Amino acid sequence: MTGSGLSEAAQAASHSNPHGLARVTMRGIQKRFGSIEALRGVDLDLMPGECLGLVGDNAAGKSTLTKVLSGAYVADEGTITIDGALASFRTPAEARRHRIEMVYQDLSLCDTIDVAGNLFLGREKFVGASLFGFLAKRRMAEEARRMLDGLEINIPNMSALVAQLSGGQRQSIAIARAAAFDPQVLIMDEPTSALAVAEVEAVLALIQRLKARGVSVVLITHRLQDLFRVCDRIAVMYEGTKVAERQIAKTDLTEIVKLIVGEGHVSKRGTAS
Ligand SMILES: Nc1ncnc2c1ncn2[C@@H]1O[C@H](COP(=O)(O)OP(=O)(O)O)[C@@H](O)[C@H]1O
Ligand SMILES: [Mg+2]
Repeated sequence: MTGSGLSEAAQAASHSNPHGLARVTMRGIQKRFGSIEALRGVDLDLMPGECLGLVGDNAAGKSTLTKVLSGAYVADEGTITIDGALASFRTPAEARRHRIEMVYQDLSLCDTIDVAGNLFLGREKFVGASLFGFLAKRRMAEEARRMLDGLEINIPNMSALVAQLSGGQRQSIAIARAAAFDPQVLIMDEPTSALAVAEVEAVLALIQRLKARGVSVVLITHRLQDLFRVCDRIAVMYEGTKVAERQIAKTDLTEIVKLIVGEGHVSKRGTAS
């Protein structure tokens, strides 16, 4: 069963992209929560080293779609192909083995532990070692410092509790933590929603550096102007369906806004005009 599915999916991936094999190919993804059809059969491709902007009104299905890719949700229907091979994962840990990481909208940081501790959340081996005392703890702090430096993230006090940090610093830590797993796919759900201007710039610069390293980035944001700074492509979702996809050079803010509110892609009456 997997044999033929795999080659079909791989073929679909290469056909949909003249430049090479897609890193991620999602096909026919459906997800239901009780009576809510959050995803109604979504297809999405993600190329190596590209940044895909994922936009849509509230409840369009952006978070659900990316959570399916990060293993946080399991789709009811559909397939995910990674680097040409059919993948099946049911948890974020399994997605991590495919080198997929997600920075969640709520950040999933632990307020009551310090910066270094948060950077190692989910890497139990390291955190376990730190229980053996001061030296291990110091090693962890040094490694944490290296992680942040490598991403040009400036957090002066590594022993500060995360609760005491600014929104931008918290956001940076969540992103650094995800980046530390050395992902090939990094999904960021509203990473700049509460940030000051300089902090937004830092996140956008980070996305550019990750792209340059060949990381595929999915960026969900309501700050549409940011999309035109870092994205290669924009996909628009509307009521659980992907309704449009545009190369960044072939669209503009006005068109994207129209697509988001339901103009230009639905035959039924759109929501607003
Ligand atoms: N865990 C959940 N339980 C029930 N309904 C959910 C859950 N997650 C999402 N939904 C519903 O699915 C739809 C899509 O939500 P979501 O993917 O969060 O949209 P977006 O991120 O585009 O705002 C919404 O109607 C939302 O209420
Ligand atoms: Mg969301």
